[in-house]
Amino acid sequence: MTSVEGRSILITGGGGGIGFGAARHFVERGARVTICGRREEKMAEAQDALGQACCAVPGDITNDGDRKRILAAAVDHGDGLDALINNAGNMYRGAISELQEQELADIFNSNVIAAMLLTGLAVPHLEQRGGAVLFVGSIHTRRAFPGVSPYAATKGAVQALTKVLAAELGEKKIRVNCVLPGAVYTEINQRAGLFDDETALSRLESMASSHAMGRIGEVGEIAEAMEYLITAEWTTGALLDVDGGLGLGLTRA
Ligand SMILES: NC(=O)c1ccc[n+]([C@@H]2O[C@H](COP(=O)([O-])OP(=O)(O)OC[C@H]3O[C@@H](n4cnc5c(N)ncnc54)[C@H](OP(=O)(O)O)[C@@H]3O)[C@@H](O)[C@H]2O)c1
Repeated sequence: MTSVEGRSILITGGGGGIGFGAARHFVERGARVTICGRREEKMAEAQDALGQACCAVPGDITNDGDRKRILAAAVDHGDGLDALINNAGNMYRGAISELQEQELADIFNSNVIAAMLLTGLAVPHLEQRGGAVLFVGSIHTRRAFPGVSPYAATKGAVQALTKVLAAELGEKKIRVNCVLPGAVYTEINQRAGLFDDETALSRLESMASSHAMGRIGEVGEIAEAMEYLITAEWTTGALLDVDGGLGLGLTRA
């Protein structure tokens, strides 16, 4: 696999969870990584943990000024941009008849619209380097879990975007791919109210037997797939399931 050493990588939402795991993975392999997130304390913690190879920028990708500032910081830190990983995401769930317009607008704004606008801003930089865009989809488009329609709809949108933008940006030599993680224990599950008690992890792990591999995933396992997708020079428009086989719909007799 081509190395990420020396490459400039912007990861949205890198203050925790999968984004932080990816940032650590790429820093350890010699990349110059920029991360962003709304909580200043998370950015400060990540900066301390990752050191000078990382540039942690407090900011909200749904804000136009912040998007431009975050991108400028990444281009400055990495002396250009090789890859944009649209990782930042939020969960909103509820029965279809109970959904609220503002919450729906908010989740589409953070999970889809902000990623589209940031990608558009990044294109002039990425095309100078034959760069890559990576979206983060979800198992929720492969398996239907009742009550998760807003989140699943946003992930379906980024998966559709992957195909269209791969076609659209090919002539600029920019590759566009999507990783579809399965269950990984991070804050998003807690914030969704899915696992908001002390048994959070054990409840998520109760899904282990639904995975062909018999366990939930680790953030580093998603980072390995991200590394492949941003470096593989003839892979574009790909939707890569990294879910331990949860998406197979396995039933054990
Ligand atoms: N964990 C799973 O099981 C799983 C499965 C499939 C897909 N995914 C996807 O993986 C991605 C990462 O999620 P995660 O599991 O690592 O959850 P997480 O720990 O909650 O990470 C999401 C990150 O996004 C940041 N973020 C949210 N909105 C933002 C905004 N408007 N501007 C800037 N940053 C923002 C959050 O930081 P702030 O709150 O500080 O802004 C947070 O650090 C998401 O796209 C998620 O949908 C996760």
